[in-house]
Amino acid sequence: MKPKHLELLRCPKTGSKLQFKNTNIVGGRIRNGILIEPSSGNEYPIINFIPRFVSDENYASNFGLEWNIHGQTQYDEYSRFSVSRDRFQNETKWAKDLSGQTILEVGCGSGRFTTHAAETRATVVSFDFSNAVDANYKSNGKKDNVLILQASIFEMPFEENYFDKVYCFGVLQHTPNPKQAFLSLIKNLRPGGKIATDIYIKNIARWLLNPKYYVRPFTRGKNPEELYNFTCKYVSLMWPLARVIRKIPKVGYVINWRLLIADYSNSLPNADDATLKEWAFLDTFDMLSPMYDYPQTVTSFKRWHEEAGLSEIDVHIGYNGVEGRAMKPECSI
Ligand SMILES: C[S@@+](CC[C@H](N)C(=O)[O-])C[C@H]1O[C@@H](n2cnc3c(N)ncnc32)[C@H](O)[C@@H]1O
Repeated sequence: MKPKHLELLRCPKTGSKLQFKNTNIVGGRIRNGILIEPSSGNEYPIINFIPRFVSDENYASNFGLEWNIHGQTQYDEYSRFSVSRDRFQNETKWAKDLSGQTILEVGCGSGRFTTHAAETRATVVSFDFSNAVDANYKSNGKKDNVLILQASIFEMPFEENYFDKVYCFGVLQHTPNPKQAFLSLIKNLRPGGKIATDIYIKNIARWLLNPKYYVRPFTRGKNPEELYNFTCKYVSLMWPLARVIRKIPKVGYVINWRLLIADYSNSLPNADDATLKEWAFLDTFDMLSPMYDYPQTVTSFKRWHEEAGLSEIDVHIGYNGVEGRAMKPECSI
């Protein structure tokens, strides 16, 4: 982290400001040290340039493994498809230039959206529960307008009512309590600020008929390395068949998903075989490994927005299931 970013952080337990202790600065960035809240004595380490408010030993360690192996896979610069930029812009619908504003990204994974948030020239604070933050740091950590940290959505180290914008993509369903996770995001948004989130959809086609929900009880919570190796072997074994099946017009790729092979041939048209296979390794593991996967109906996700007292609510079926955009009313403190 850079020293100037200290002002963005607060002790997650007391809400008070933090100070540096025993820092080791390399190239203008704090490589190691401690953040201390003087009145309570609460301390949080900075390890490898990243403030850590939680340890790696938690339910999201599968995501840490996934994003450190696939740190670049879904970056547009690497894949040459404009998938992450398009999703960031289409889901947020925020202006392209947000200079002078602050954006909070919750559950950053590899940081493929951090890149596009940083392009708006806003100050971007990005965190994840897992050590995926190390992968994000490699890609975005040196940028002057980016602060990356490891923390939990349930105990965030920020001032309340602070951020101009908050987004959280692909995360809520993977927490033990998606509604509480969603509501906690609102606390950090300033009155008049905008929020964009999504959550997997719960309906017959995408839930009851989705075989992952029948297989996951046997795969979630397994040792991530072992499950990742197993997933790669399964995908490699099935790949020749998947190549044939995807040629069936319109439904081929859907059949592959039903066979538990993440097939992106529809969303990455003309992608080469190696790219499709890399995405299949990543997303098949992503289907099978999470400890929690709680999809929601459009109605319940909309109700959460209403219960949170948000305005300009726009909840609809979108790229990753159900998408929601809204504003925190000006008079909401
Ligand atoms: C499917 S990944 C999505 C990552 C990224 N947003 C993307 O779409 O590429 C879900 C992420 O949510 C994170 N996550 C799960 N529980 C969390 C929590 N309590 N606080 C913060 N992040 C959490 C996981 O570690 C994981 O990186």
